[in-house]
Amino acid sequence: MSLLFAELETPAPVVDLDRLTRNLDRAASYAREHRLALRPHIKTHKSPSLAREQLQRGAVGLTCATPFEAEIMSEVADDILLAYPTVGAARARRVADLPDRVRLTVALDSGMAVDDLEAAARAAGRSISVYVELDLGMHRVGLPVVADAIALARRIDDARPLRFGGIAFYPGHIRESVDSQDAKLDALRDALGDALAQFERAGIHPDAVSGGSTPTMWRTHELPGVTEFRPGTYIFNDRTTAEIGACEWEDCALTVLATVVSTAVPGQAVIDAGSKALGREPLRGTASDDGFGALLEHPEVIVKGMSEEHGVLDLSKTSWRPRVGERVRVVPNHVCIVVHLNDVAFGVRGQRVESSWPIAARGRGYTLRRGQLADSGEESRWRERGRASVD
Ligand SMILES: Cc1ncc(COP(=O)(O)O)c(C=O)c1O
Repeated sequence: MSLLFAELETPAPVVDLDRLTRNLDRAASYAREHRLALRPHIKTHKSPSLAREQLQRGAVGLTCATPFEAEIMSEVADDILLAYPTVGAARARRVADLPDRVRLTVALDSGMAVDDLEAAARAAGRSISVYVELDLGMHRVGLPVVADAIALARRIDDARPLRFGGIAFYPGHIRESVDSQDAKLDALRDALGDALAQFERAGIHPDAVSGGSTPTMWRTHELPGVTEFRPGTYIFNDRTTAEIGACEWEDCALTVLATVVSTAVPGQAVIDAGSKALGREPLRGTASDDGFGALLEHPEVIVKGMSEEHGVLDLSKTSWRPRVGERVRVVPNHVCIVVHLNDVAFGVRGQRVESSWPIAARGRGYTLRRGQLADSGEESRWRERGRASVD
């Protein structure tokens, strides 16, 4: 492909390939230096080709959240962690039906999820490793009482073809500036140490202890016992990550390319990237309630408001005055949502668009059964898209 940057239709997610490579390399060398297994969460990019880049740099496997992500990633990976409870027969079946060559692990926290996964694993005739999820402060999923986690680990080992493979936790509650994370990291270290000691006393030795996030990424080695980490956002970074100091502004690899479509109202400019291009995501982990994104080249200019297809730039803190037709790049608050809103991403270097790739694992990939849709025209359009198979 040989497109000039200026020729791209907007709004479009564009990835600075040099920044992307730097982000990938930095994480890989951190993992090597600290002998940590890197198992990146692919929910951020949802792209098999980027997953391949991560694996080629030494990632031990991938982390996914949805069955569809796991299905798509099984094209390039043979070691996948589904970091999401397999509650519900349909979800469990899809996961158990991944290709046999995939070494599969699931993180869960309930007897119901174990039962559903056990039934699906039996039906598929495969063995599945299971991490017991602990709540070490995030209060989302995960067992807060270690004795309950130990009981669940025992239940898993009794539920052949499942086997207990380790412990998982997600430090998603630590989102403050990297300079202010000490107290929460200390508490996390204590909680994890206590949990591991209780497992040892119970005679259960978790082979893997899986944690990690982008905000805490560079301090993962300060948590004794952790064997693998699962950062996702680090591959692109975003405004939130830069704001808390977990990356530099220059490490934000994905921006939304947008065109100024109106400057009619004084003090502002309107771009063609609204909530359907940027997502309506707050700046997380910071005190400021500061818009929905900021311009890469003019970080003082924020997206102060949005409709679905309009983004309103606040020009009150800048002397820069854009003209209609001018192009800008928006660093989104939360990049994972932006990726998921798009079908394709473009790789750019300087003024040149060097590559593009499908966001192949976006959506749910639900399979439609023949006749399930009301009109057959719609059914054939689905088939043409090649996304859903109609059986
Ligand atoms: C279970 C789990 N692990 C890892 C991650 C990756 O976190 P981050 O995007 O902060 O790197 C997430 C993010 O949502 C997650 O939910």
